[in-house]
Amino acid sequence: MKKSFIVAALFLFAGTTVYITSCQNKSQKQSQNQISKEDSAKNLIARGEYLANHVTVCIDCHSIRDTGRFSMPIVPGTEGGGAGFPFTKTEFIPGVVMPPNITPTALKDWSDEDIIKVITRGINKKGDTLFPIMPYHSYSKLAKSDVLAIVAYIRTLKPVEHQTMPRKLDIPMSLLGPLPDGNLDNNKIPDPSDIVAYGSYLTTVAACADCHTPRGPQGFDFSKMFAGGTLFDNPVFKVAVANITPDSATGIGNWTEAMFVEKFRENASEKMLNTRPGRDNTFMPWSMYGKMKDEDLKAIYAFLRTVKPINNRVVKHPK
Ligand code: HEC
Ligand code: HEC
Repeated sequence: MKKSFIVAALFLFAGTTVYITSCQNKSQKQSQNQISKEDSAKNLIARGEYLANHVTVCIDCHSIRDTGRFSMPIVPGTEGGGAGFPFTKTEFIPGVVMPPNITPTALKDWSDEDIIKVITRGINKKGDTLFPIMPYHSYSKLAKSDVLAIVAYIRTLKPVEHQTMPRKLDIPMSLLGPLPDGNLDNNKIPDPSDIVAYGSYLTTVAACADCHTPRGPQGFDFSKMFAGGTLFDNPVFKVAVANITPDSATGIGNWTEAMFVEKFRENASEKMLNTRPGRDNTFMPWSMYGKMKDEDLKAIYAFLRTVKPINNRVVKHPK
């Protein structure tokens, strides 16, 4: 009797401990789940913030920029609120196109799917195809996790009340057409240890080729990828795009990795941004790309070493 009581008590005790520990485990797990959910939401937004500001540079186009300062940094408080001036024929646009407001003021009725579709295929909520100055052809190569990160981040932008003028094009957009439906699940972020593949991914989604591949009224000259030379001649400044192929005489063939990274850091420094270069200003968004992680800039450098060297001398500020 005594024995069985002890046994029962032991069982009971053991049972209770198991029960208590399982409860503890459960609530610990629940709060851990909660924490890891919050953590992963935070990580997603942080990744989106990094990409949208320093790699895919959405915020560069979709904000008001200070045309007086070096590389036209964005005016604080206008992030994502839409551009201050349109792209016109000086940027080879057949008409005028303005990057609109993408803060929650403008996108509150857009679903995540709507935003994903405009970023990766260039079709907006109304079903219109965007003019491809918005680099959706490049963004169609983004890994799905990176697109989701960008969407999560732009939803956190401070709502800005600002309206841009609608586009006016001299050609029918049907000539350009949206991108076909691709499967983002097939896009992967290459492992950073494969530095060239990883650099190629970053160079693509940062749309470096959009400016650095020569273009004219006929479109891009893909036989001269990254060879520069396109002249942007607008009322404020005049600049030709640099040759960033590994050609030693006219490109960046003689640049070391350290020089490449340093160029971005120096050109994004407050000292440099506060200069007022006037007619010698530049379109290159140094203030944005200049805060890219070392690892990512080094990967872009590694990738650029592998492109075809092209001899093309560019005078950055022709008189
Ligand atoms: C080179 C400049 C440029 C960059 C970089 C850029 N955009 Fe755009 N974006 C535009 C322009 C210009 C339009 C309007 C095009 C048109 O009207 O045909 C546009 C349109 C949009 C629209 C549609 C808004 C509407 O009301 O129809 C969204 C959303 C958008 N961009 C989000 C983004 C995101 C997110 C990124 C970064 C992943 C990005 N953009 C990067 C220039 C840019
Ligand atoms: C909006 C147009 C634009 C985009 C996008 C752009 N660039 Fe540039 N880039 C320029 C212009 C214009 C110059 C020449 C003027 C200057 O040095 O600022 C230039 C200069 C450079 C230089 C300096 C070369 C030299 O000889 O001094 C490097 C390096 C460079 N770009 C790399 C890149 C990389 C890498 C990317 C993508 C992450 C990129 N650029 C995207 C317009 C652009």
